[in-house]
This record gives sequence, structure tokens and C-alpha cells, in this order.
Amino acid sequence: MRVLGIETSCDETGVALYDGEAGLVAHALYSQVALHARYGGVVPELASRDHVRKLLPLIQKLMDEAGGGDVDGVAYTAGPGLVGALLVGAMTGRGLAWSWGVPAIAVHHMEGHLLAPMLEPDPPGFPFLALLVSGGHSLLVEVGGVGRYTVLGDSIDDAVGEAFDKTAKLLGLPYPGGPALAELALKGDPARFTFPRPMTDRPGLDFSFSGLKTFALNTWRESAQTDRDRADIARAFEDAVVDTMAIKCRRAVRQTGIHTLVVAGGVGANRSLRERLAELMEGEGGRVYYPRPEFCTDNGAMIAYAGFQRLAAGQAEPLNVKAMPRWSLEELKPADA
Ligand code: KG4
Ligand code: ZN
Repeated sequence: MRVLGIETSCDETGVALYDGEAGLVAHALYSQVALHARYGGVVPELASRDHVRKLLPLIQKLMDEAGGGDVDGVAYTAGPGLVGALLVGAMTGRGLAWSWGVPAIAVHHMEGHLLAPMLEPDPPGFPFLALLVSGGHSLLVEVGGVGRYTVLGDSIDDAVGEAFDKTAKLLGLPYPGGPALAELALKGDPARFTFPRPMTDRPGLDFSFSGLKTFALNTWRESAQTDRDRADIARAFEDAVVDTMAIKCRRAVRQTGIHTLVVAGGVGANRSLRERLAELMEGEGGRVYYPRPEFCTDNGAMIAYAGFQRLAAGQAEPLNVKAMPRWSLEELKPADA
């Protein structure tokens, strides 16, 4: 079975073809970063309009690269995300499936992220813990199988990627701030400032990162605002975020007894976080799995893969189109139910 995956939940148009036997056949991505850069963040209406312009030509390019052939099902991201952007992928995906006479499936964007390491040559086995860290989410999830999700921890305010982006912005770094801040942190002095590790002094697995952003702002205002200060603050911020996530992951491992950790979502591309969690899991006698960096951020491959799992199990959507800006992972049904 060959499945076309479509991702349009935010500022990336991603498409891919996943084959049950051959694996990932082809994938293509168009990033809107340049379009939103001068506004310092994603402008939802511009995002939707750009998906309208780019999606069908990108699917055509994907099909050409794959050398044609039939598609047996279509998977589209149905949420969570920007509703206008979601609707573009949902309508296109549902419409193509209808015209081709094949089933369509609505995919949860975060399910795509947490299954992304399954596309790698040495995938993790179930059950595993997933740390999902993106621009919109900071989640710790216990994964028992496809669609068997228990949310152990969630962000009570800013998501971790959002905190990276906002902190980068207040330091005057270009959009998108996360990767720029991480790059700058490499040059920072780790001993100069110590930022708090939010919510680590009490039990529980929830996250809060908005206070760190304020701490960074105050530190920046009180400094001479030199390049040195900027790099040292970036370093202190990144160290605090990485340390906080490592503390919560260790807690989740000990609480559940599960020693396999998957890290996914855009912030999963952060090198310092990857190194730290690899060390942690080694110390716990377990292992950490990551998607390749290009499949950490939004992409069509993870949607094609998640959709394949459900379509292959016989699940499909009716003709009405699903687009849900808010959607809990815990509402999903198991693929084998
Ligand atoms: O998963 P993603 O592509 O989109 C969402 O679903 O949100 O994640 C994007 C987020 C942005 O906040 C971006 O700044 C952050 O991931 N990000 C990073 C890095 N690469 C991307 N944050 C820290 N370090 C990085 N290397
Ligand atoms: Zn994402």
C-alpha cells in the first residue's frame, strides 16, 4: 500500500509517499520561512494562501520524482495547527482521495512527530516515552502503540520552541529564533549566568517556560547589551531549558520504568538537547531515538507514515473534511482497535 502524506499545519508545506513494503519512496518540502521572516513570526493568513499556491505543484514534483505509479490512500494533517492552513491540506488531500477512489485518513500532527523515528533504519519498539518539543507543544507522552497515548506532562504556558523563539527575538536575533539562539549559545560562557530550572523543585511532569523568557529579558536589560552578553544569555537560557527537560525525562523514566525515549519536534533538532538526553538515557541503562534532523521539524514523511499505519489497519474518514485547531493526542483511537 502506497500512501500520499500532506502536511500544512503551520509554515511548512510537506508531502511524501510512503510504501508499506519499500518504505519512504520520496518526500518534498517547501518552507515559508522567508515569507514570514519580516513579520518576526508566522502570519496565519499568509501561511494559508501560500499553501494554496504551493501544495499541488509540490505534489506533482513528488509524483514525478517517484516515477509515477498508483496511490492507494491519502493522509492529511487535520490538527492541531492553524485552521486556515490545515484546511488547505485537508481539502486537497480529501479531494484527491475522492477523485482517485482511494481512502483518506486525518492525521494528528503530534502523532506524526512521535512516530517519525519509525522512518529510521533502527526504529524503537513499543512501549516508549516521547518528548515532543516544537513551536506549539512541550509534551511527555507514554506510547503503548500507534494511537495508544497517555500524556504524562504538558506545557502550562509557552511551548519550548516558542520560548526559544521569543527569547531569540528579545535578544535581537533573526526569525526563526530557535536555531539562531542555539548557534549563538555555542559561543556563550556557561559559567556567567545561571537561569532557574522551572518546576523541577516540585513533583510532576508539566513544563513552564515563560518565566525563563522573562528572566532572559531582565538579564539582557541589566547588561551592557554587547555581543558577549547576548551569547552568554543565549547559553544560560539553552542550558536551563536542556537541564529542565533532562530532569523531567529522568523522572518519567523512573516513574514508568520505560527505558526507551523518543525525542521529536522542531526543538529535537537542538544539538545540546540531543547530547544531554543521550547521556541521560545511557546512565539509566536505556536508549534515546531521534528522527533525522530534517524529520524533526514539520514534514510530509511523518504524516504519510502515521496515515499508512491507520489506513493499513482499515481505518478511513468519510467524505466530510476534518480540521481541528485543537486536538488532544489522548482522543485518538488505537490503530488496531
Ligand atoms: O516541529 P516544528 O517544525 O513546528 C511546530 O510544529 O511547531 O518546530 C519548530 C520550532 C520552532 O520554535 C523553532 O525555533 C524550534 O522548533 N527549533 C529549534 C531548533 N530548531 C528548530 N529550537 C532550538 N534549537 C534548534 N536547533
Ligand atoms: Zn510540528
